[in-house]
Amino acid sequence: MLKDVKFIRFNQLGDNRGKLVVIEGENDVPFVIQRVFYIYGSDADVIRGEHANLETEFVLINVCGASKVRVVDGQNEKIYILDQPHEGIYLPRMVWKDMYDFSADSILLVLASKHYDGKEYIRDYDEYIKIMSKRKHLNSVDL
Ligand code: TYD
Repeated sequence: MLKDVKFIRFNQLGDNRGKLVVIEGENDVPFVIQRVFYIYGSDADVIRGEHANLETEFVLINVCGASKVRVVDGQNEKIYILDQPHEGIYLPRMVWKDMYDFSADSILLVLASKHYDGKEYIRDYDEYIKIMSKRKHLNSVDL
């Protein structure tokens, strides 16, 4: 699962007028972009996210400032620093994510593969771990 999390470095276009980053669905990110939102004004001690998604894939980009993203798959965890407007991380379905350590100027842009549906969010960590260990068990039976 964590092997499917990908750090992405987008091409920086531009010229002496400044930089430009282009993100096309299915070309620069591995899904059709159906939703865009951004998170800003979070204090350094705030933890956001704290959920996994049954259906939605995401790409997170700090277009301004910095934050950290902790990604968990039920067995392993990895921490990413997002602090460049041309870098992002791709998060597949069913990884648990926490975003934190927001700089005062942080604007965290999120591209999502699905429209919002609160029912596909798992917000209880114990429930998430239960689902993931069941899946692991099923996979090992399949083998
Ligand atoms: P939440 O998922 O808790 O934000 P984060 O994961 O960034 O910490 O969402 C905060 C509120 O906004 C919650 O009431 C649901 C609502 N919301 C939408 O209506 N649509 C969306 O696309 C998102 C991401 C959140």
